[in-house]
Amino acid sequence: MPLTTIAGRPILLAPSLLAADFARLGEHVAEATAAGADWLHVDVMDGVFVPNISIGLPVVAALRSITSLPLDCHLMIVNPERYIDAFVDAGATSISVHVETCPHLNRTLEQIRDRGARPGVVLNPATPLVMLDDVLDLVDLVLIMSVNPGFGGQRYSAGATARIARLRRQLDERSLGHVHLQVDGGINAATAPAVVAAGATNLVAGSAVFNHHHSVAESVAQLRSAVQQAV
Ligand code: DX5
Ligand code: ZN
Repeated sequence: MPLTTIAGRPILLAPSLLAADFARLGEHVAEATAAGADWLHVDVMDGVFVPNISIGLPVVAALRSITSLPLDCHLMIVNPERYIDAFVDAGATSISVHVETCPHLNRTLEQIRDRGARPGVVLNPATPLVMLDDVLDLVDLVLIMSVNPGFGGQRYSAGATARIARLRRQLDERSLGHVHLQVDGGINAATAPAVVAAGATNLVAGSAVFNHHHSVAESVAQLRSAVQQAV
């Protein structure tokens, strides 16, 4: 269930399972689903592109067997084109690849679409938006990182807000309003309102959803009310 609707656009929540308790992942998925999560965000890290190692194909397959929510796979790995078929086979709904890892980006995005998944493209905070110019027509999703990827629980980088607003203008000018504008890193009830006001339509949130302070239901409710007040 979308967090809200702004200017006719549903604002979706994609809880990042990186912050979930892996020893009871199924329960956390059920709680997020009951709380109204729209997608589940799966952070795949290889210890090379980013300095951390997280989860991979067997976990995506296990998730696919217990949920019908879209599985939004964020590949923070080098040579992601080598693994696209495997992620689709494991049950990925969308597959997002970093510009910084893809010398043949349009081929990789086409490969994702050809295999029947939704292609997404991701930019690190320091990568200029212009890198998107020639691939925007090929994607269903653009992810603007609001932290340097690799770890959950980092602080939202304020510079992301202006980038989101610029990208929103570009998408609208190019009649690409259907492309999801996703933001990932440091999203919580304090930062989400400005992010959606700038034009984001898809919020990834890890530690703001799965934490020791509140239940998943309470945490999602807080995000929902913060975003609704932003309208
Ligand atoms: C960071 C990951 C994020 C991370 C977000 O590399 O891509 O998805 O889980 O975590 P929070 O919401 O805690 O910043
Ligand atoms: Zn992510």
